[in-house]
Amino acid sequence: MATIDKIAVLTSGGDAPGMNAAIRAVVRKGIYHNLKVFGVYHGYEGLIKGDIRPMDLGSVGDIIHRGGTILRTARSLEMFSEEGQHKAASQLKDRGIGALVVIGGDGSYRGAQKLARLGINVVGIPGTIDNDIVGTDMTIGFDTAVNTVINAISKIRDTATSHERTFLVEVMGRNCGDIALRAGLAIGAESILIPEIEYDLKEVGEKLIRGFKRGKNHSIIIVAEGAGNIMDISTRLKEYTGFDNKVTILGHVQRGGAPTAFDSVLAATMGGKAIDVILEGKSEVMISLCDNKIVDKPLHIAFEGKKPFQRHLYDLANELSI
Ligand code: F6P
Repeated sequence: MATIDKIAVLTSGGDAPGMNAAIRAVVRKGIYHNLKVFGVYHGYEGLIKGDIRPMDLGSVGDIIHRGGTILRTARSLEMFSEEGQHKAASQLKDRGIGALVVIGGDGSYRGAQKLARLGINVVGIPGTIDNDIVGTDMTIGFDTAVNTVINAISKIRDTATSHERTFLVEVMGRNCGDIALRAGLAIGAESILIPEIEYDLKEVGEKLIRGFKRGKNHSIIIVAEGAGNIMDISTRLKEYTGFDNKVTILGHVQRGGAPTAFDSVLAATMGGKAIDVILEGKSEVMISLCDNKIVDKPLHIAFEGKKPFQRHLYDLANELSI
């Protein structure tokens, strides 16, 4: 097997806090081990176009604490086509680049798998706030997004108390309820609506009424964006309870900000592990946090089944918000 002495790294899909820390780890550890490291700008779109630039130690200076991704990101339709995949692989092969680190979600992993079939060693690092990648306990960016939600809700709680109001707060996560569930448990939400669990809005309304009757001066309901249309939920709850509620959609603030210590360490350790597996000559692997250890697993695991739902957290949140 040819020795790999040139590698590239790219970010793909929705950006996530901690991606820069992962990029930094890949570049610095790669250089430490005498690899030539290249950065691919604008995700697979840039790879296909050949926007590939050499990285040195200074390229990743002063980024560890910054949200977003210095390599930029994009969602590439062309990468779904065989022609696009071949163009992407050729851009790497023409430069003698033998391995590619892809920092992104499972959609980005699918592109990586196509490149593996074309002879490029690929390693996936789970970078998405959604925490929806099968095979890893946590994804880079998730902890920061949860903390962003908690900080936002602490501000909402002040005004909710002043006006003795109910607030519905929509959070991101695509079809995964993990951000809503963790943040809801952390702040003691009255109800948490997530796509994984059927809910009855009448029961949610009755719980709100019980709360106010026993003197609650505000209520917070966290709604995962995949759990339904929050304006519809708001209208129906007003009908069931007879009192007003306010809606806050947190949106893209959840995608930014300095990564938490947890995400910064997760990103650095995953980036470092990616270089380890490249030096071992592995390909088609994903770096995962598994039972508090950073390990590598076959990439195809990310495409199998659904992420296990932590039902015990949901049940506990319900018990504690009685
Ligand atoms: O995948 C990350 C994410 O923030 C999802 O939670 C959200 O649904 C989606 O991206 C938004 O996509 P965009 O940034 O393209 O609007």
